[in-house]
Amino acid sequence: MRATVLPETRNIPIDSLLDKAFTQSDYAVNVTDTKGVLLKVNQAYLDLYKFGHEDEVLGRTQRIIRSPRTHDSVYKDMWSTISAGGTWRGNLTNMAKDGSEVFVHLTISPVREKGRLIGFMGFSLDRAQQVLLERELFHANKLMILGTLGAGLAHELNNPLASILLDAEYLRDVLVDGARPIDRDTAAQAARSVISGVERMKKVLEHLLLYSRKEGAQKHSTLPLDQLVEGSLLFMEKQLRSRGIALEFDLERNLFISCNRTQLESVIHNLLGNSRDAFEDRPAEGRVIRLKARSDGTGFAVLEYQDNAGGIPKHVLGRIFEPFFTTKQEGEGTGLGLAICRKIVAEHGGTLQCASEGDRAIFLLRLPLIRQESREILPD
Ligand SMILES: Nc1ncnc2c1ncn2[C@@H]1O[C@H](COP(=O)(O)OP(=O)(O)OP(=O)(O)O)[C@@H](O)[C@H]1O
Ligand SMILES: [Mg+2]
Repeated sequence: MRATVLPETRNIPIDSLLDKAFTQSDYAVNVTDTKGVLLKVNQAYLDLYKFGHEDEVLGRTQRIIRSPRTHDSVYKDMWSTISAGGTWRGNLTNMAKDGSEVFVHLTISPVREKGRLIGFMGFSLDRAQQVLLERELFHANKLMILGTLGAGLAHELNNPLASILLDAEYLRDVLVDGARPIDRDTAAQAARSVISGVERMKKVLEHLLLYSRKEGAQKHSTLPLDQLVEGSLLFMEKQLRSRGIALEFDLERNLFISCNRTQLESVIHNLLGNSRDAFEDRPAEGRVIRLKARSDGTGFAVLEYQDNAGGIPKHVLGRIFEPFFTTKQEGEGTGLGLAICRKIVAEHGGTLQCASEGDRAIFLLRLPLIRQESREILPD
């Protein structure tokens, strides 16, 4: 290549200038061959991924910065895009040399010579600050949802408490006071009912703790989608039923997904909360929320969520996932609910879409299925 000399850099050959620009760039830049083997990296790359010297990375593949946190489907999508000659852009979590997480916005573009693919060039922009902010926002939204869950929680704890009290009083009457003749079957039933009531309350409280804890936002586990849906209904079911909203389920079993349970439950809570609000101005009869889970045959689980609370007007539909877009009164909605939901779902390698048909609002939640052979069931 002939070295062009620009007027401003009269005495510096362009190759040397390019080399300096590459080395000194604030972006972490890397160049690989077509197999992803690292051929050149700059100082920002070494700093971002905490390597001391380029000898530690050159000649090795990009796998050295791959994080188990990022779902396989993300890497697959990236690889199929770039090997077909396209540019891949997206946010993802990588791993530094010391095992710590590195949040980046990555752009990978193909490098060609006479039309032939000869390698790839990657730019990583550090998103650490942004991720921190997003986590704060997520936590703030979670606390707000917790506030609205309060009513459901009171029901959840009140009902078992009332029946525990009745059963315990009965047992006291027959065992301690001798006020009534003892009937062994009734007494055994009362004891069993006390235990199951306490177990139910324990479950609700454990869930609540998990939800409100900040560090709950990090953990990933493998579980079937129907269990996730059932878990998210724990607090909300009574609240919805008390407003005459019926819940209908058609959930295929064994749709295993890898997820952060707290985060995905909060997605379903947001959808349920939105439906509950939308039903406010609707007739009390015929209120239904339907949840249907199935596999789409291409490696994804699809949760089809719909309510019949009047549907979503066109002008709202186009902006529904925008942060801070709300049609609710001031102080009633932040407009962050669905924006955060979409972000959480994207971080799980999935998509969240919305449609409206007649009086129905429809949300389609797609999540990558875990392959049968790599399935490992972890405790919650
Ligand atoms: N099921 C639904 N039916 C009709 N409109 C909906 C439905 N879900 C969402 N919307 C509309 O989308 C808007 C944005 O929803 P989003 O959850 O992002 O924010 P919000 O509910 O207004 O506020 P927040 O979630 O912070 O309480 C709502 O204000 C509402 O107009
Ligand atoms: Mg909302």
